[in-house]
Amino acid sequence: MTILTSQMSLLLLLLLSLTTFHRSVSSNDQKLVQCNEKDEETLLIFKKGINDSYGKISTWSTEIDCCAWEGVHCDNITGRVTELDLGNHGLTGEINLSILQLEFLSYLDLSQNWFDVISIPATQHNITHPSNLIYLDLSTDSIYASPLKPFLHMNNLDWLSPLSSLKYLNLSFIDLHKVTNWLQAVNTLPSLLELQLYNCNLNNFIINPSIQYSNLSSLLTLDLAVNNLTSQLPNWFFNLTKDLTYLDLRWNNIHGEIPSSLLNLQNLRYLDLSFNKLQGSLPDGISQLPNIQHLDLNSNMLSGSISSIVGNLSSLHYLHIGYNNFSGEISENTFSKLSYLDSLDLSSSNFVFQFDLDWVPPFQLSYLSLSNTNQGPNFPSWIYTQKSPQLLDLSSSGISLVDKNMFSSLIERISHYLDLSNNSLTVDISNLTLKGYTLYLSNNSFTGGLPNISPNARVVDFSYNSFSGSIPHSWNNMKELININLWSNKLSGEVLLPFSDLKQLHILNLGKNKLSGTIPINMSQKLQVVILRDNLFEGTIPPQLFNLPDLFHLDLAQNKLLGSIPDCAYNLTQMVASNNVNSFYADVTYELFTKGQDYMYNINPRRRTIDLSANNLSGNVPLELFHLVQVQTLNLSQNNFIGTISKMIGGMNNMESLDLSNNKFCGEIPQSMSLLTFLEYLNLSCNNFDGKIPIGTQLQSFNASSYIGNPKLCGAPLNNCTIKEENPKNATPSPENEDDDSIRESVFLGMGVGFAAGFWGICGSLFLIRKWRHACYRFVDGVGDKLYVTLMVKLNSFHRN
Ligand SMILES: *[C@@H]1O[C@H](CO)[C@@H](O)[C@H](O)[C@H]1NC(C)=O
Ligand SMILES: *[C@@H]1O[C@H](CO)[C@@H](O)[C@H](O)[C@H]1NC(C)=O
Ligand SMILES: *[C@@H]1O[C@H](CO)[C@@H](O)[C@H](O)[C@H]1NC(C)=O
Ligand SMILES: *[C@@H]1O[C@H](CO)[C@@H](O)[C@H](O)[C@H]1NC(C)=O
Ligand SMILES: *[C@@H]1O[C@H](CO)[C@@H](O)[C@H](O)[C@H]1NC(C)=O
Ligand SMILES: *[C@@H]1O[C@H](CO)[C@@H](O)[C@H](O)[C@H]1NC(C)=O
Ligand SMILES: *[C@@H]1O[C@H](CO)[C@@H](O)[C@H](O)[C@H]1NC(C)=O
Ligand SMILES: *[C@@H]1O[C@H](CO)[C@@H](O)[C@H](O)[C@H]1NC(C)=O
Ligand SMILES: *[C@@H]1O[C@H](CO)[C@@H](O)[C@H](O)[C@H]1NC(C)=O
Ligand SMILES: *[C@@H]1O[C@H](CO)[C@@H](O)[C@H](O)[C@H]1NC(C)=O
Ligand SMILES: *[C@@H]1O[C@H](CO)[C@@H](O)[C@H](O)[C@H]1NC(C)=O
Ligand SMILES: *[C@@H]1O[C@H](CO)[C@@H](O)[C@H](O)[C@H]1NC(C)=O
Repeated sequence: MTILTSQMSLLLLLLLSLTTFHRSVSSNDQKLVQCNEKDEETLLIFKKGINDSYGKISTWSTEIDCCAWEGVHCDNITGRVTELDLGNHGLTGEINLSILQLEFLSYLDLSQNWFDVISIPATQHNITHPSNLIYLDLSTDSIYASPLKPFLHMNNLDWLSPLSSLKYLNLSFIDLHKVTNWLQAVNTLPSLLELQLYNCNLNNFIINPSIQYSNLSSLLTLDLAVNNLTSQLPNWFFNLTKDLTYLDLRWNNIHGEIPSSLLNLQNLRYLDLSFNKLQGSLPDGISQLPNIQHLDLNSNMLSGSISSIVGNLSSLHYLHIGYNNFSGEISENTFSKLSYLDSLDLSSSNFVFQFDLDWVPPFQLSYLSLSNTNQGPNFPSWIYTQKSPQLLDLSSSGISLVDKNMFSSLIERISHYLDLSNNSLTVDISNLTLKGYTLYLSNNSFTGGLPNISPNARVVDFSYNSFSGSIPHSWNNMKELININLWSNKLSGEVLLPFSDLKQLHILNLGKNKLSGTIPINMSQKLQVVILRDNLFEGTIPPQLFNLPDLFHLDLAQNKLLGSIPDCAYNLTQMVASNNVNSFYADVTYELFTKGQDYMYNINPRRRTIDLSANNLSGNVPLELFHLVQVQTLNLSQNNFIGTISKMIGGMNNMESLDLSNNKFCGEIPQSMSLLTFLEYLNLSCNNFDGKIPIGTQLQSFNASSYIGNPKLCGAPLNNCTIKEENPKNATPSPENEDDDSIRESVFLGMGVGFAAGFWGICGSLFLIRKWRHACYRFVDGVGDKLYVTLMVKLNSFHRN
């Protein structure tokens, strides 16, 4: 890395000094030097194509000498334009490459703008003067491309051939997939030192096979990363240029073996072939590349032993060879010469690790990943010798035993990223202060209290452990938190985190603990996931929770929440609109309870979920809730909700799992529910629904258990609706039913007609049928019950009168 930069900076320094020099000259002497008329004309033609939305080149007017125009630099004697420096000027419109007709132009930077097209004038080919262009940067950047504004593209690169002085060429992020002869085209540039074609959708290595030697012999830096190079690496590829120091081919689809001609690149310092499909073993030659410092072969299918091969690369700083099929033994001999090693990744490999217990490596690492390797049961003791690691990933390495003091001291030293998840660690780390920004300790058996954490922490995942006690006061300083996951521990006490300060919080998962108190209000507007499931939270649901535009997963199930669902205008944009929020935390897994089961999922904004089940919630379900048409899982079961289900539920047409069971819902099941064509799971059991189950393939595909416990409900898959059920007057008289009817009449008389018709008229009697209540309602306290009691008192007094 360092070498790369120094190499580049040398070049850039040269160019920049040129630039600054010219700049100072032209600003000092703009009055003295007169702009060349021909150059001005060329610049004005170029300007015609540009849409200067931000007025950045408003100085480009004939009133002003062109040597004083924004970004234009002239030679201080001849007045000829030598540089055009318009990088990052917010320009749109067209790049007209007729600008290359500027005879003395040596530096052209149009990078980081928002241009829409590049046009290549036909006259380009009859430029007669030799080109002076040394530096050409037309690159954009990923942030400038979007589905609405696709990448800039070019269909040919033949215009390059006259640029015989060109040393630096950057066309990154320009779509070149139609340029099948790109390699041939750049091979006409004999002075080229640096070629950047990052993310250009290149798809071949085709070159005229008769070419034995190439013009690219001065090339030092070649960046072809993130393209679509799907073939093998041609054997001659490494013969293109002998002096190459930097080669980046990562993120392509290159397959086959690494050609042994790699050995020609004796000056190579930086080689990145990661994220391809390379196979076979490494060419022996690699061990004889004396200067190689950065070797990244991660995520290929390479095999064989590496021990003897990398062991001689004594300049290595960076060795990432994880996620391959390498095998064999790794011992201290492998590393005995690698005293500069700084970054090591051997993750997901089948190596047999054979380190002496008292081995002290010759290197000090800042980055170490051994995840998914077989290290355990003892923590690899040589890691304790590392003084200032920034990143340590030992996830899934079978570690259960540590030296408590050395381990504590080590993990307190990790300054950025610590991942110890999926091991069997049982240590008490409550007295430690972890410095890292990203802390994954999940799926272990850590006991005792939570450790102290740096105020800079961003990701804290301590899920699936046995941490106990309350959340420490020291956690109150964490203002940068993005994701906190304490799922499935033994934590208790009130959650007193200063939520109004956690402005970056995206994911809050405190589920499966014994936390108490009320649900915090004033939470981050960026919250996407809120999971408080299976705790002892009480009080009401704060309306603020329904005012989080990015929220797509709300799970408050299995608490002691009271009151009704907030009835206000919701602002849950994500549950209404189908546009996805940024989910850059795709590695976050959570348990999703849906379709009557518990699934493990990665965070995914497409699974919009609301689960309020198993609380003491009551009242009607606000109509606003049925506006959340993107919701796929809605679970309101095991509460005391009353009232009818709005026919608007038919509009929630993404619904896959709907559970309203064990409540006091009543009235008919709306016909519109047959529109829920994605419904895979439905539970309406144990309510007071009546009438006929609407006909619709989906609704009949569920078995009777989805509907049982609703005595007045009929039709497939339950029993046929009979006259008897449609007309209760004709029902076989039973003492209870008789009682019922008389009570119902009393209710009508005793209460306001509107209220009676709206609620008790439909449901009142059913509330009094104790048999069903006891069969179905697991939670019989709360508001519904209070009403019931009040009603009984009223009825009794009515009867007495
Ligand atoms: C210039 O850009 C602005 C903003 O992007 C756009 O509204 C306008 O239509 C563009 N004009 C031309 C001539 O392309
Ligand atoms: C013009 O630039 C040259 C170097 O290119 C410098 O030596 C000279 O002093 C400059 N002339 C003026 C008038 O600034
Ligand atoms: C580019 O500039 C040339 C003049 O050099 C002009 O003839 C041509 O029309 C321009 N191209 C476009 C697409 O405007
Ligand atoms: C380019 O060459 C063609 C003939 O090859 C000629 O007709 C044309 O005028 C030339 N253009 C310029 C700008 O010299
Ligand atoms: C080439 O362009 C890309 C995209 O703008 C940029 O990220 C990169 O830094 C450039 N390369 C160099 C060496 O300047
Ligand atoms: C080298 O470049 C020159 C001029 O640009 C060209 O004529 C020649 O064919 C190139 N050589 C190869 C091997 O491509
Ligand atoms: C990559 O190239 C293959 C053919 O080699 C083509 O089918 C595919 O569409 C290309 N991918 C992209 C993203 O252009
Ligand atoms: C590559 O160059 C070496 C000498 O530097 C030569 O022996 C070999 O044949 C060349 N390979 C190809 C495929 O051109
Ligand atoms: C590594 O170097 C040693 C001595 O410097 C040498 O004997 C050995 O052959 C080398 N190994 C490889 C694979 O080149
Ligand atoms: C934590 O520190 C306290 C006081 O220094 C000590 O009594 C206790 O034993 C320590 N706990 C652990 C687990 O090291
Ligand atoms: C709803 O959220 C949006 C952000 O997506 C915000 O701009 C708007 O002010 C919010 N509306 C209300 C009523 O809070
Ligand atoms: C329901 O009624 C249909 C005719 O409408 C009859 O064929 C079927 O046997 C009845 N099913 C039951 C369970 O009574």
